[in-house]
Amino acid sequence: MKKITIAIDGHSSCGKSTMAKDLASAIGYIYIDSGAMYRCCTLFAMRNGLIAADGTIDEAEFERRMPEIQVSFKINSQTGRPDTYLNGACVEQEIRSMEVSAHVSPVAALPFVRAAMTAQQQAMGREGGIVMDGRDIGTAVFPDAEMKVFVTASDEIRAQRRYDELMAKGQEADFNEVLANLRERDRIDSTREVAPLRKADDALVLDNSHMTIPEQNQWLLDRFHEKISD
Ligand code: CDP
Repeated sequence: MKKITIAIDGHSSCGKSTMAKDLASAIGYIYIDSGAMYRCCTLFAMRNGLIAADGTIDEAEFERRMPEIQVSFKINSQTGRPDTYLNGACVEQEIRSMEVSAHVSPVAALPFVRAAMTAQQQAMGREGGIVMDGRDIGTAVFPDAEMKVFVTASDEIRAQRRYDELMAKGQEADFNEVLANLRERDRIDSTREVAPLRKADDALVLDNSHMTIPEQNQWLLDRFHEKISD
């Protein structure tokens, strides 16, 4: 059977990556976390002194160094989940820090960053058989994706989920800071000029505020089976 392309977009911390990973493993597709790629670009910029303490980005130097950034994913044999690699080194933990979260949306709004990551994403998904999550997958990266889902949930519920996730990993976090960060990222993501976050006209909407993980996985699997039997 022909493998399709599945695009899962939505707001920050609404559980897109959990559902996209679970769907991909249930149906034997490859999962790609496009947000991790923007996080890698941000980490690269931070490590190379391209973001000043006040958040100003040295855009000219960043653009010049963009070709040095290669992002890849490798399955972690212990967790069974893909880990993110920046130029061959695992950065899975580091890219999830609050510091990276604080800078990622301005970085992801830069047109040269988007052009480079979009090209890498399109190359990864050329053969179909992928589930990719992000902000612009159904609108800009794969506008012809056969299945598109737009996910959302209330701000407080999303912040609580992200806060719990950081706590579980033993990272430092403050609930109000997490809430403010996700609101600010949603604002920047939705209002930027290039590929803003918006629902594709042909996307199915999922508000998972009051759904458990098994419930959302079942919902997604049911939609997938409907799509492939069309
Ligand atoms: O996990 P969470 O939903 O909070 O964020 P993420 O998926 O890790 O994405 C981090 C950031 O990368 C987002 O806030 C966006 O600014 C940016 N991003 C983007 O611009 N386009 C994408 N396709 C994916 C992420």
